[in-house]
Amino acid sequence: MLDLKRQYEPLHKELLAALEHVLQTQQFILGEQVASFEQAAAAQLRVKYAIGCSSGTDALWLALVAAGIRSGDSVITTPFSFFASVSSILRAGARPVLADIDPVTFNLDPKAVSNALDSPAASNAKAVLPVHLYGQCADWDAFSRIAAENGLKLIEDAAQAWGAKWKVQTAGSLGDAAAFSFYPTKNLSAAGDAGMVTTNDDQIAERARMLRQHGMRRRYHHDEVGWNTRLDGFQGAILEIKLKYIAGWNDARRAVAERYHALFRKAGVIDPGPYPAKGIVLPHEVPGAHHVWHQYVIRSARRDALREFLTTRNIGSEIYYPVPLHMQTALKDLGYVEGDFPEAERAAREVLALPIFPELREDEQQTVVDAIAKFLS
Ligand SMILES: Cc1ncc(COP(=O)(O)O)c(C=O)c1O
Repeated sequence: MLDLKRQYEPLHKELLAALEHVLQTQQFILGEQVASFEQAAAAQLRVKYAIGCSSGTDALWLALVAAGIRSGDSVITTPFSFFASVSSILRAGARPVLADIDPVTFNLDPKAVSNALDSPAASNAKAVLPVHLYGQCADWDAFSRIAAENGLKLIEDAAQAWGAKWKVQTAGSLGDAAAFSFYPTKNLSAAGDAGMVTTNDDQIAERARMLRQHGMRRRYHHDEVGWNTRLDGFQGAILEIKLKYIAGWNDARRAVAERYHALFRKAGVIDPGPYPAKGIVLPHEVPGAHHVWHQYVIRSARRDALREFLTTRNIGSEIYYPVPLHMQTALKDLGYVEGDFPEAERAAREVLALPIFPELREDEQQTVVDAIAKFLS
């Protein structure tokens, strides 16, 4: 699925020197190295503030609370994402209200959000939290319109989307605040858990900084109940180095995706979609989006058998995500039942992520495509 060693090998001397520098400064938590990474990250995304923290999950929680979401509020989001997109809303004390996805992009469907806003559960809606799933921005024109019309905040879950754009703007600069994850499999990755909040809003930035250190503005004076969610110096040092390369890596991912498209076309196995029939449906970059291909996700009506076939041939694949969030045991108190979000449920049965990373070679892609074509024949 992913060979992180191919990224590490050409960088290892540079990374070791940066880690050595952190050891010399002995600034292990926040400190000079984290501040320097935050500045470079903000400049690259063209946002005013970037605030490092200890994971993407914490970044979502910080973004929500710093943007003013609290107990009694509702936040609308997608049932087709990683668990943290919803659990962070609960951790902020608010109620998640779910709306179905678009079957082409797998992102939150703006029309479904408009409908959800009419439901009683959303009477206290304060924000929408779209996820830029698989590295492609959600339809930001539509969400900006919905937010403006309904007086809602927009919080981006940009965990999978460093470097993605909507039109000319980067993911992370679109909403009132955004959350990134630098989990090791993400396209911009740390050597452990790490995350970041970005915003152009002075107050949100100031509050997020305060909340990440137990609500302290002044040492040992606690203005709010925050949490310990600081970024450490080693992760800051590694991430600042990787920032220099991420644009190139994202371009390489785009080239890998193009190559998959071409190889599948040549193999003659593509169904037009959005739903698969006898062949597979390829992922689609929509107009306005600059996709960074964190994942390359196909749809197949015989997904589980296809995955087993690939596994017997030593070809990695993954299902993001096999159980939609409204059907997760931990979230049953939300009161949703099977059938509530048919697009998310169908996607959960049909999606399959294929190997993709910047260093993936054409011959390896050909092996993947040949295996899929063989299975389908
Ligand atoms: C869409 C999405 N949101 C949130 C997260 C949470 O990030 P982390 O694992 O860094 O806490 C992830 C990553 O796993 C993710 O993919």
